[in-house]
Amino acid sequence: MDRGGAAEHRRRLLAGLAGRVIEIGAGNGLNFAHYPLDVTDVLAVEPEGHLRKIARQNAARAPVPVEVVAGVADHLPAADASADAVVFSLVLCSVPDQARALREAERVLKPGGELRFFEHVQAETKGLRRTQRVLDAGLWPLLGGGCHVGRDTAAAIERAGFTIDHLERFRFPDAPLTAPTSPHILGRARRR
Ligand SMILES: C[S@@+](CC[C@H](N)C(=O)[O-])C[C@H]1O[C@@H](n2cnc3c(N)ncnc32)[C@H](O)[C@@H]1O
Repeated sequence: MDRGGAAEHRRRLLAGLAGRVIEIGAGNGLNFAHYPLDVTDVLAVEPEGHLRKIARQNAARAPVPVEVVAGVADHLPAADASADAVVFSLVLCSVPDQARALREAERVLKPGGELRFFEHVQAETKGLRRTQRVLDAGLWPLLGGGCHVGRDTAAAIERAGFTIDHLERFRFPDAPLTAPTSPHILGRARRR
């Protein structure tokens, strides 16, 4: 995916960030290489042990200090108002409760702090939305580690009390055949 264009999306996701960042569900750390040098440190939270191990190897090669820790989006190992930015990248599809994860992000953000997101989301076309609903009600989340294909994540971000000030919608990968996971959003929101 990264060779197919995701690396460029990751770069845009993180461009312009500065200060202390908390990345939630960091996986194996594919974002780490893209943090700008104005970021003073990243707390990368990842629940899965094997991914954490690989993430630590990627952290050692990152251009900014990255600490990889265990944790889940609902209970972040961070103090209130301690982060300049929170990053979700391909994670809000999988958290058990988006509203709760976003409330927790709001808790750890400083007033005016930024939320950055890159997520696959609910389709804009009716037909694909119907397919997504069928998949989400079936085996997809069971087989995909809790992943849901049809979540309206931009709406959830706004409902959680953030103001979205930049939002891109695009298909990724940009292949001739649209998959249920093709519709993506990438953007920035601020804590109100
Ligand atoms: C598709 S991967 C994305 C990994 C990484 N953020 C990226 O952009 O490559 C989804 C990640 O979300 C993590 N995850 C799943 N449920 C989570 C939760 N409740 N809290 C935090 N992370 C979670 C998974 O362990 C996995 O690392």
